[in-house]
Amino acid sequence: MNPTHDQQNRQIIDQFTRQAEPFARHPAHSTEESLRLVVEAVGLTPDDTLLDVACGPGLTACAFAPHARQITGIDLTPAMIDQARRRQAEAGLDNMDWHVGDVSQLPFADGQFSVAFSRYAFHHLLDPAAVLAEMVRVTRPDGRVVVADVYTSSPEQAAAYDRVERLRDPSHVRALGLEELTGLFRDAGLEDVTTTFYGLDTSLESLLAASFPGDAAADAVRQTFGEDLGVNRLGVNARQIDGDLWFTFPIVIVGGRRRV
Ligand SMILES: C[S@@+](CC[C@H](N)C(=O)[O-])C[C@H]1O[C@@H](n2cnc3c(N)ncnc32)[C@H](O)[C@@H]1O
Repeated sequence: MNPTHDQQNRQIIDQFTRQAEPFARHPAHSTEESLRLVVEAVGLTPDDTLLDVACGPGLTACAFAPHARQITGIDLTPAMIDQARRRQAEAGLDNMDWHVGDVSQLPFADGQFSVAFSRYAFHHLLDPAAVLAEMVRVTRPDGRVVVADVYTSSPEQAAAYDRVERLRDPSHVRALGLEELTGLFRDAGLEDVTTTFYGLDTSLESLLAASFPGDAAADAVRQTFGEDLGVNRLGVNARQIDGDLWFTFPIVIVGGRRRV
């Protein structure tokens, strides 16, 4: 049974208060290649004003800042915004502002930004279409809306993947199918929809150390990944490297343009 909106928000704040620091430090979330791909996909110009939706510790926001006029980040978890402010100060960036809030009702005016962006957050949302509609609302006509997230490829793979991800991180709701995500963009009236793909490689143990399943859940996750070696029911290419289990989240960056 799906949690209520309030239950989900409590779960998010609980998980991401604990995850804020390890998430910010985990190398997989800041690889040069992955940040370069999102910066390219967004295609910033010096006049752009970008909203980073569910910005977490500001990894993407700080990567965008040197290329735009102003970057605004919003996230539900105050500890994530604390991390983001710290990162901004360390980087010496002065064109950024931060908000604590729920992205299902963005506290911004219609057409306030030239770009709305979100990474690795849609799978935590109970109603991704409603959040996408909010992102479209706050983007000016002819502006861009860009979402990067893990995607699934079949109902069977999605069921197996979502099950193990909820064990690892109970704030996981559901990874969207690729067609479903691009379909949301078209249904939201976005034009010139594009997709870019990359893989996010991580060792299972480093990811478990940065999230907070109980001991029994962590063991169940290890067992599920172990059983997936050479099988790939989870769709993440689980493999052994020097005795450690590694896998790859399939990521898509979907971009679209708001109709004039
Ligand atoms: C996996 S982290 C991704 C952080 C960041 N976007 C990145 O890619 O580095 C997911 C983030 O989504 C935030 N989040 C989830 N649901 C949210 C909601 N309804 N409103 C605002 N933030 C939310 C969490 O607090 C967390 O910081």
